[in-house]
Amino acid sequence: MNNWEYSESIESEKIVNIEKKYGNFIDGKFVTPKSKQYIDTISPSTEKILSSISIGNQQDVDYAVASAKEGLKKWSKTNPSERAKYLFKLARLIQERSREFAVLESLDGGKPIKESRDFDLPQVAQNFFYYAGWADKLDIAWGNEQYKPYGVVGQIIPWNFPLLMLSWKVAPALATGNTVVLKPAETTPLTALLFAELCEEVGLPDGVFNLVTGDGSTGSHLVNHKDIKKIAFTGSTGVGKYIQKSLAGKDVGLTLELGGKAANIVYSDAALDEAVEGVVNGIFFNQGHVCCAGSRLLVQEDIEEKFIKKLEKRMQTLNVGNPLDKNTDVGAINSKDQLDKIEKLVNEGVADGGDLFQIECELPKNGFWFKPSLFTSVQANYKIATEEIFGPVLTTLTFRTPEEAVEIANNTEYGLSAGIWTEKGSKILWTADRLEAGVIWANTFNKFDPASPFGGYKESGFGREGGRHGLLSYLKVSS
Ligand code: NAI
Ligand code: MG
Repeated sequence: MNNWEYSESIESEKIVNIEKKYGNFIDGKFVTPKSKQYIDTISPSTEKILSSISIGNQQDVDYAVASAKEGLKKWSKTNPSERAKYLFKLARLIQERSREFAVLESLDGGKPIKESRDFDLPQVAQNFFYYAGWADKLDIAWGNEQYKPYGVVGQIIPWNFPLLMLSWKVAPALATGNTVVLKPAETTPLTALLFAELCEEVGLPDGVFNLVTGDGSTGSHLVNHKDIKKIAFTGSTGVGKYIQKSLAGKDVGLTLELGGKAANIVYSDAALDEAVEGVVNGIFFNQGHVCCAGSRLLVQEDIEEKFIKKLEKRMQTLNVGNPLDKNTDVGAINSKDQLDKIEKLVNEGVADGGDLFQIECELPKNGFWFKPSLFTSVQANYKIATEEIFGPVLTTLTFRTPEEAVEIANNTEYGLSAGIWTEKGSKILWTADRLEAGVIWANTFNKFDPASPFGGYKESGFGREGGRHGLLSYLKVSS
């Protein structure tokens, strides 16, 4: 148990003002949904209903796309430095209201306030600042080539980093002169709805940013709409494949950011205490609901015992509980469905023969929770070693040589990220060269920067978000 018990330090909910019911944001204003169908969004840490959001149907999506099509006429011809002004204004407003956004994100999705306040929100503002800066510099990057926006872009985002994924998608799309119809995830729509209020406040021209809430059916209407010129999707590999099939043969751009099963490779010459911190951050950050989570620990065999002992000791100090408590390290699982999925995979891991370690802690009575968990004695063919669990569960595999580490690391259908821990720079380069992963961290993990592109290999998807590469997801360039 912890040597030191923390006193509660709860962030007040008073700062947020949640409506009982929300419509869609179309043509510059909130509108009553034509579907007249609603679904509750709850707080996964208490199961309390926060609000009712609309499930957009075909007519709602038609309306939003028509509005974006109209908005495009002006926006695509707006002086780029004018476009930048709106994005700068949005960035500054996000900063000003970041505490409100952070509380709302933690309430609606269950992530610790420490993370929404210190990670999500600063990153969101940075993304808007970064792409605001690009808006009038596209000529510098592509001046010798012809470039133009796609047009009306459909963006579908997941529930693990709701506002952050919005910023990854909306900021570059608007900077390059596209207009947007966004569909947030059904369990976490509230920060996107607050963002729509900011668009109203900054006077973003009508039709430039449109928001239709709903579930997979709403997303599907968006994907299949005839006037959509580009789809950007982040979510499960299954839905990603469905979208790719739906768009096959059509002149519609597509970027997919899907799942992952990243290897976090710890060589025996690594600074072990630092590596323990990196491994803990790699898998328990955001309850492991992270596409680039370091969910497979690959530890060199001669240090396995020592490393696992240190890791278990460190895991035991994690505070699990109320997301609004500033001391909380691991919050609530995002939904009952996700909890069921985690429990099923973990039970299968135990049945297969894996050794399961879970920290001792008391879980709140209501809400959805899962204790930070570690599997050892795992065979490479177990489901827990190959499937994305998307929860606070780390699977350990061992290796003897660098060649073996690379072989195991690449033995997955995914290829989003990886981590390498060693004292030797040459070993970092040797290993990184051979890993099939879009992002590779060395002696650190989960580091993000708006200037740095992010995206996958293999079934983790294609296309890049972030940096100059991220602009290309929203521009058609021809020389
Ligand atoms: P999902 O892929 O169903 O949901 C992501 C988004 O896609 C949501 O906005 C959802 O409404 C939308 N969507 C669902 N079906 C659609 C369809 N047919 N057409 C268009 N849009 C559709 O993910 P889900 O079911 O919430 O999570 C399942 C698993 O997916 C997780 O356990 C995790 O393994 C993975 N996942 C990966 C994420 C990532 O960041 N790469 C994010 C969320 C989930
Ligand atoms: Mg919710």
